[in-house]
Formats: sequence, structure tokens, C-alpha cells
Amino acid sequence: MTDTVWAPDGSNLVVHADNAAFLPTLPDGAFTLIYVDPPFNTGRVQRRQETRMVRNSDGEGDRFGFKGRSYDTIKGALHSYDDAFSDYWSFLEPRLLEAWRLLSDDGTLYLHLDYREVHYAKVMLDAIFGRECFLNEIIWAYDYGARARNRWPTKHDNILVYVKNPAKYHFDNDEVDREPYMAPGLVTEAKRKKGKLPTDVWWHTIVSPTGKEKTGYPTQKPEGLVRRIVSASSRPGDWCLDFFAGSGTLGAVAGKLGRRFVCVDQNAPAIEIMRTRLDGKAEFAELLPVEQVPAD
Ligand SMILES: C[S@@+](CC[C@H](N)C(=O)[O-])C[C@H]1O[C@@H](n2cnc3c(N)ncnc32)[C@H](O)[C@@H]1O
Repeated sequence: MTDTVWAPDGSNLVVHADNAAFLPTLPDGAFTLIYVDPPFNTGRVQRRQETRMVRNSDGEGDRFGFKGRSYDTIKGALHSYDDAFSDYWSFLEPRLLEAWRLLSDDGTLYLHLDYREVHYAKVMLDAIFGRECFLNEIIWAYDYGARARNRWPTKHDNILVYVKNPAKYHFDNDEVDREPYMAPGLVTEAKRKKGKLPTDVWWHTIVSPTGKEKTGYPTQKPEGLVRRIVSASSRPGDWCLDFFAGSGTLGAVAGKLGRRFVCVDQNAPAIEIMRTRLDGKAEFAELLPVEQVPAD
């Protein structure tokens, strides 16, 4: 067990653990907001596409081989992808079921993925939460790094938003930072000054490699993005959870906005970064693997 057990009136917590072992120790309905940004490659076969050559008897294949024989190129991608996919989802599904259990009746889940996974995740979350609980797909658009020349360069992530109860969920976008109007000349000065409510497409830079927000954790997400999520979908004092916490962006933002938080990660370097980033704002706990738990 942890040295510090989570309690509704306890302190913020950072837990070094496999989330599959830690989440079942938390009570039903404890969190108003869960934000998770899972790794993509856990248990995953990295190769995404394989090609297989098959003899084409009528000579009309799309490649030509030895002695003028003709071949079709058969993409084995789907088969290969299916194997990898079921590995990945057998990793993620039980954790998303726990997320559903841990959300309060007015709670919201934000699942941060990319264009490769999001469509499968939508189907899975529809099954876990129910389609009527799907609130949004947020597109986080950024503009950084190399641009592919053979297709539209992919410069966005997808964040699926599900609520536990469509009749009761908390959402207050008045709390969210506003954006400049695209055509400021077409609106009144008062509106221009106030800015417009963000839509489901968020333009936001990545964490600047030279900025002061940078922790050095490779997959760190920008605070600005997570701030919108926390501001709209929780109130001061509410409990927020990130069980793929990495550098602790959720904890950092939740703390600044007066929310309480639990961050979980199994990776020791992530815990070290959170120790610095969340210093004095959280207690740190360790969930030891079973074989390391002292007998007494
Ligand atoms: C994409 S990163 C999250 C980055 C984070 N959003 C941030 O802003 O820094 C995913 C994290 O999940 C952690 N992780 C992967 N499998 C885990 C597991 N079974 N239990 C707990 N953490 C896990 C990894 O160590 C990694 O830090």
C-alpha cells in the first residue's frame, strides 16, 4: 500500500506506481476531473504497415519481378495493426473503466490522443460511458517541427471529452481564457476587448524548448491547454486526477487554480521532475510492487 493513503480531506498526492495497481485503491466517484495523456507505445508492435507480394496470374499486378512476372502488392497493414491495437487497448481499457468508476456524477474525462488512435478510442469510450455522454472532441492545433511533403503535415492532437452524467456535469466556460476575434473589425470594441469564447479547436504552441515552463520531460504538454480543461470542468476545491502524469502538468495547473490533485506515474524520472515542479504542493507516496512490500 501507499505510505500516504488518499483521503477526501487529505493533501494533494503524487504516487509512484503502476496506475493499474493504484487506481483500485481509490473510492468510487472521488474526482470531478480526470485528464489523461497515455503513452502510445505500451505493449505495442511498432511496425504499422507491412507489405506482402502475391503472384498475379493475369499479369496485371502493380509491380514487376523476376522474368517479367507480375505481382500485386498486398498491404498487410490491417492484420499487423490489429495485433498491435488489441495489445494497446487491452492495456488502456481497464484503466478507462477505472476512470469511469472514479468520476463523480458531475465529473468529466479528457482523453488526450492523436489522429492514429482517436477513432478507436471514441468507439471504446462510447461503449464504456454511453454515446450520450460524449461531449466534445477538442482539436489541439500547433505548428512546430518538420512538414511532410507527401501528405498534409499532421499538426494536431485530439482530446475526447466524456461526462459521467449528461444531466449533471459541471462545465463553465466563463472561467476559460478568451481568444482574439479573427475579424476584430466586425465586432464592437467591448466585444473585441473581452475576446471570444474558445471553440473546440484550440490553437496553442507546444511547450517552448527554451521557455521557463519546460521541465525536460519529453512528452510534457503545455499548461495553457490543461488550464482550459481544469478551469471549465472543475471548481476550486474539487479533486482532479491524472494517472499518466509525466511531468505533472495537471498537478501544476490544478494547484495554481486552487483545485486538489492526484498525479500517478510509474516512471522514476517523472516522479523526480514532479518533486521539483510540485515541491511543497503535494505529498509523495510509493506503491510498491507486491514482492517488495515488507512482510510486517
Ligand atoms: C505522454 S506521458 C504524459 C505527459 C504529461 N501529460 C505531461 O504533461 O508531462 C505518459 C506517461 O504515462 C506514464 N505511464 C505509462 N504507463 C503507466 C502505468 N502503467 N502507470 C503509471 N504511469 C504510466 C509514463 O511513464 C509517462 O510519463
